Amino acid sequence: MSTFSGKAVLITGAGTGIGYALCQAFASAGATVALNEIDPALCQRAAQQINGTLGVELVHPYAARIMIDAHIPGRIILMSSVTGIQAHVNLSVYGITKAGIRMMAKTIALEVGKYGITANAISPGATLTERTLQDDPNFERNWASVTPNGRVGYVEDIVAAALYLASPEARHVTGQTLVVDGGWTLQSPLPPELPDLPAYSSQLR
Ligand SMILES: NC(=O)c1ccc[n+]([C@@H]2O[C@H](COP(=O)([O-])OP(=O)(O)OC[C@H]3O[C@@H](n4cnc5c(N)ncnc54)[C@H](O)[C@@H]3O)[C@@H](O)[C@H]2O)c1
Repeated sequence: MSTFSGKAVLITGAGTGIGYALCQAFASAGATVALNEIDPALCQRAAQQINGTLGVELVHPYAARIMIDAHIPGRIILMSSVTGIQAHVNLSVYGITKAGIRMMAKTIALEVGKYGITANAISPGATLTERTLQDDPNFERNWASVTPNGRVGYVEDIVAAALYLASPEARHVTGQTLVVDGGWTLQSPLPPELPDLPAYSSQLR
């Protein structure tokens, strides 16, 4: 696969987890990948593992500035979260920033569209990474039990969404947030006792 041959990709939080999986995927697809990572040791390890990558410092507004000044059409993909959609106890600051990122994608999209740049966000649901497994050894089982698709998310699920948003096929998609959560945000809690479901629903069971 060389869909991104000749393209340059900057990944933030590139040392591990979803960021690292994105580096691997874009490098495999032929892109030149630059890693941005706050932990130098992790960055070094990731770069060595992926081979031939370069660590740089950038957040998205400067990325957009550089892209505009250099007349580089391209894609900005921000990482939001389902925690920016549904509220969680003790996660107010995280939730506020993740909700803000969804609006940020819309605003950036308006600002940079005329330069041939799209800006979108991805909202992962519970996704298995080294960190989430460390936080909860039963992460896969616990989140599978509350996810309509019946399984936890894997980094490959987020990578697939990012590859799409970065692809030529997504050139007219901008300002959107792609929720990749196996349906976890689709439903709110229901009362335990409900009248019978309509017939069309029971036929599906
Ligand atoms: N894993 C999940 O279940 C999940 C769910 C929803 C959203 N997300 C979002 O996806 C993104 C990646 O999550 P993850 O689970 O892969 O996280 P992770 O903790 O496994 O990896 C994050 C990486 O980013 C680096 N980092 C932290 N602050 C940084 C900074 N200021 N500059 C550069 N690098 C920095 C860390 O050192 C680490 O290597 C995050 O934005 C997270 O909020 C993850």
